[in-house]
Amino acid sequence: MSSPFSRAGTEYFLELLRDFLIDTFHFICKLSFRGEMLVSRQGGVALDAIPGIMWRISVKQQNIMPQLELNQKPALPRSPRPILLIGAGGIARDAHLPAYRKAGFPVAGIYDRDAERARQLARQFAVPTVFQSLQSAIREAPAGSVFDIAIPASQILPVLPHLPDGSGVLIQKPMGETLNEACKILDLCHQKQLRAAVNFQLRYAPYVLAARSLFEQHAIGELHDMEVRVSVYTPWHLWSFMQDAARVEILYHSIHYVDLLRSFLGEPRGVYAKTLKHPLSPQLAPTRSTLILDYGDTVRACISTNHGHVFGLGHQESFIKWEGTQGAIIAKMGLLMNYPAGAPDEMEYCILRGSEPPRWEPVRIAGSWFPDAFVGTMASVMRWADDPQDKPTTAVDDAFKTMALVEAAYRSSERGGEPAVNQ
Ligand SMILES: NC(=O)c1ccc[n+]([C@@H]2O[C@H](COP(=O)([O-])OP(=O)(O)OC[C@H]3O[C@@H](n4cnc5c(N)ncnc54)[C@H](O)[C@@H]3O)[C@@H](O)[C@H]2O)c1
Repeated sequence: MSSPFSRAGTEYFLELLRDFLIDTFHFICKLSFRGEMLVSRQGGVALDAIPGIMWRISVKQQNIMPQLELNQKPALPRSPRPILLIGAGGIARDAHLPAYRKAGFPVAGIYDRDAERARQLARQFAVPTVFQSLQSAIREAPAGSVFDIAIPASQILPVLPHLPDGSGVLIQKPMGETLNEACKILDLCHQKQLRAAVNFQLRYAPYVLAARSLFEQHAIGELHDMEVRVSVYTPWHLWSFMQDAARVEILYHSIHYVDLLRSFLGEPRGVYAKTLKHPLSPQLAPTRSTLILDYGDTVRACISTNHGHVFGLGHQESFIKWEGTQGAIIAKMGLLMNYPAGAPDEMEYCILRGSEPPRWEPVRIAGSWFPDAFVGTMASVMRWADDPQDKPTTAVDDAFKTMALVEAAYRSSERGGEPAVNQ
């Protein structure tokens, strides 16, 4: 190693000092941009910055990567609680029940107002009880059950008041059809002291968990660019309740990306958005959207979705990308391509190593968004039911902020763009 007094040694020391000052500057900027959220965590954030600095020093000194951990598994409850499923539709069949079977979570019973659907699903997944009414489901649910609500958003408010006070509840997204409904859901959850979370399970997709662990180990440095791009064909006719819904794309789909961006970047100052109909499905509410979340002058956060790409798989796109000062991550969401058959997920990351040319490393993904991510959201509600301190990041209070951004996106879209000529 160079002597600290040699020219190379001095340059090296100055480089480290420069990096340290950059990290400190970013840290101070973060505090001032997102003061409200971070002030109470200042100590924690200050400590958070230290591993990032140590990381850079370590990479520079040794020109080797410290061992990276790529966790793809959610935290599980010590002992799973019985689940009472309300709603036996497509998402319960394709994701909730397959996930619970995979995780070994017991499903005690199903209620759907379409009793035949509930019976079919109970047969398919060996669920012991089909309830004939919501009241009997709640009355006869085993002690300590958590309630898994998988029904259209318009039905959440009529169902919630029947749940026993203090229960653990997982509510399918979106949290109501409008911000006004989200507000009522939030109030009801507080009044009834429900430990309720919204099923924003993209946060628990294996590639998102892996990306978050790279991010939390500071492997990609300061995150300054997040992009979600989806250009696929989505057969909306599979969801009967969406055919006459006033809002479709942002409320039912891009909401996952809005929530995901918030979970990495915190609260934006605002949102610019435009959501549009497709000329081949004029009867549906808009199904193509572009959103920019405003994080100030150095963080780009955008979502672009086109669900009307009917030109085959050749140029379909479906990915999330993270770019930081030291590295980048890209994850292909195969689920949305060639829907409903899907395509394989893919993930790669690239960490800059001094003057070496950038090299992308593939990551083997264990599982997928559907159904594996649904283990994470349910596990988090079970853990919260066990321990009041173990509140999930997708609890209704947080989910409400995603709903507020969705509402703001619709407002922005209605308002239209800035005219080219100021009148
Ligand atoms: N990735 C995701 O998170 C994801 C994906 C798809 C759907 N969803 C959400 O899941 C919810 C349901 O979607 P789906 O695809 O299963 O719809 P679906 O139309 O296939 O099924 C909805 C089911 O709910 C039942 N139902 C409606 N109101 C009810 C009530 N008050 N009590 C009991 N049962 C009732 C219906 O009979 C039907 O069986 C929607 O809110 C949707 O946004 C989430």
